[in-house]
Amino acid sequence: MSSGNVAIISDIHSNLEALEEVLKEVEKLNPDKVVCLGDIVGYGANPNECCELVRKYCDVVLLGNHDAAVAGIIKDDYFVEHARVAVEWTKKTLKDEYIEWIKTLPLTYELDGFFFSHGAPYSPDSFIYLVSSDAVLWSLKFLSASGFKASFSGHAHITYSFGVKNGESGILYGEFEEINFDDFEVVAINVGSVGQPRDRNPKSAFGFIEDGKIYRVFRVEYDISKAAQKILDAGLPSILSSRLFLGR
Ligand SMILES: [Fe+2]
Repeated sequence: MSSGNVAIISDIHSNLEALEEVLKEVEKLNPDKVVCLGDIVGYGANPNECCELVRKYCDVVLLGNHDAAVAGIIKDDYFVEHARVAVEWTKKTLKDEYIEWIKTLPLTYELDGFFFSHGAPYSPDSFIYLVSSDAVLWSLKFLSASGFKASFSGHAHITYSFGVKNGESGILYGEFEEINFDDFEVVAINVGSVGQPRDRNPKSAFGFIEDGKIYRVFRVEYDISKAAQKILDAGLPSILSSRLFLGR
């Protein structure tokens, strides 16, 4: 059974300009399903508009750590200062109906051998970044032991992914633009971020599973100046504005 065509978006972080451009590209691909891996809010200036669009366009929406902090599900005391300021600003700005909606979001989703979560797949409620060698190793072990062929994570805001190739020893690390699942025993994919990329490429990132067989990375230009100015106008920390131009 094929999972069909699945678009995967993540880490929108209240960046409406980025989300609108990404959704235009997603629509062109005519997916069977759109999955959002969480962090809809936090950092940017349009949390209500982003919740409205994600709720309308996505078939599956998972909980991110910023969403959880804004809804009071987790504490924000481990967040760095500018992230905590953004969480507190978002709490005051977000409509009650979206806070209540966030409280209903699940941590994981499974579809035909694919596993979806905000952080690393082996401990979804811990929101672990899929970047360290330990996190990569545990993720690949989890996928093998549970019979999944691939996982899709957000949270890290980078498009680097990790896999074990059939017939080869060792783990492949890389910024794959295209992954054929048949080439891998298991692969743990970071889909990147729509609203605040950190892989030194300021274009929005999203992923696409084609016919259950191929994964492709897409990068999309958007009006960074407009999103960045709104962050300043809202009185949010200026680093949240300037970093959008740098993609880091
Ligand atoms: Fe995030």
